Amino acid sequence: MHILHVVGARPNFMKAAPVLRALAAKPGVRQTLVHTGQHYDRIMSDVFFQELEMPQPDCNLEVGSGSHAQQTAAILTAFEPVLLERKPDLALVYGDVNSTVAAALVCSKLGVPVGHVEAGLRSRDRTMPEEINRLLTDQLSDLLFTPSADGDENLLREGIDRSRIHLVGNVMIDTLVRLLPRSDQHRRANLAAPYVLVTLHRPSNVDDLPWLRELLATLAELSQQLTVVFPVHPRTRERLTSLNTDSASHPRLQLLDPQPYLDFLALQRGAALVITDSGGIQEETTFLNVPCLTMRENTERPVTITLGTNQLVGRDLRKLRNAAKEILSQELEGGTNKGTERGRAEKQHRACSIPFWDGHAAERIAEIIVSRDKN
Ligand code: UD1
Repeated sequence: MHILHVVGARPNFMKAAPVLRALAAKPGVRQTLVHTGQHYDRIMSDVFFQELEMPQPDCNLEVGSGSHAQQTAAILTAFEPVLLERKPDLALVYGDVNSTVAAALVCSKLGVPVGHVEAGLRSRDRTMPEEINRLLTDQLSDLLFTPSADGDENLLREGIDRSRIHLVGNVMIDTLVRLLPRSDQHRRANLAAPYVLVTLHRPSNVDDLPWLRELLATLAELSQQLTVVFPVHPRTRERLTSLNTDSASHPRLQLLDPQPYLDFLALQRGAALVITDSGGIQEETTFLNVPCLTMRENTERPVTITLGTNQLVGRDLRKLRNAAKEILSQELEGGTNKGTERGRAEKQHRACSIPFWDGHAAERIAEIIVSRDKN
């Protein structure tokens, strides 16, 4: 059986790595890895292949950056001949980035069955490009692998047949479980706890410059109380440059380059609080039992709120300040070990009560694919 995987952007790599590994362990499975080149920098792509021990891509479409239409169109055009040449029995696509929907569309037009890993998530916010990508990819997919039960419900509501939906759990958590012990050696020696970790890259936060300026001022204010570490995504870096921000006047607000996987995992693990607009980080902080404030009005990952450590603060800086104050006063309470890594590790087994977020989601996917082939 020949399986072709398509990856393109940073969050895809953590999701594909465990699936590639689980399928490699199955006899009679041949795999091809296609990288669209949506992300291309060493720091946004290559470093993840090394740390996650992924095979090098068999083919790189090198589409690079552009508007949504340009990027999607470039993937459609470049991927079609690759698919025609490789003729896989099944293509696997991951998450909700432009590479995901573009690859799924090419496959379905050429009659190649598609499996979507991380299917069924919905924010119900169609202003987010990822929501459009999720809706369309799921409609085009033959096998839908969901990370949580809300995904199954969303797909059923959209008329997708139950027989195509498989609740397998969270593949990103597979990667986290495998590499968590290794992240210990990746702590920043010069960063003392307690600190707040920040990531922001969604257009809704960083493309609106007056809002970004206010957001940054709030982080600078927080940094008067404790260190704020902010690895800056290239999109955000571009916007900050145009704002002409003077970070030197806030010595405890540390703007870093995007971090490799293990360094970022170490940063998350040691943080007293994470402030983010990422999808994956809402999940990882839930698993790590680290409090998370999400700068979005909605989330496609509601289990991180109902069963995890996530809270939505939307575009409300007063809410952000108040929630951060409350969390930090609890986390840093003198005399308890609540806010420490050890305290959290003790609670972790109880805290991650989300079914199938157990490090074995990719094995379940591999088993479903192989047994389907036998039938
Ligand atoms: C993409 C995904 C988003 C995901 C994010 C993770 C879509 C619609 N969005 O957003 O869901 O959360 O990746 O990072 O697919 N750039 C570089 N180096 C790179 C890649 C990009 O400098 O290797 C810069 C370019 O200036 C580019 C900008 O980052 O224009 C944005 O990249 P793009 O791929 O368009 O989207 P992301 O914001 O990264």
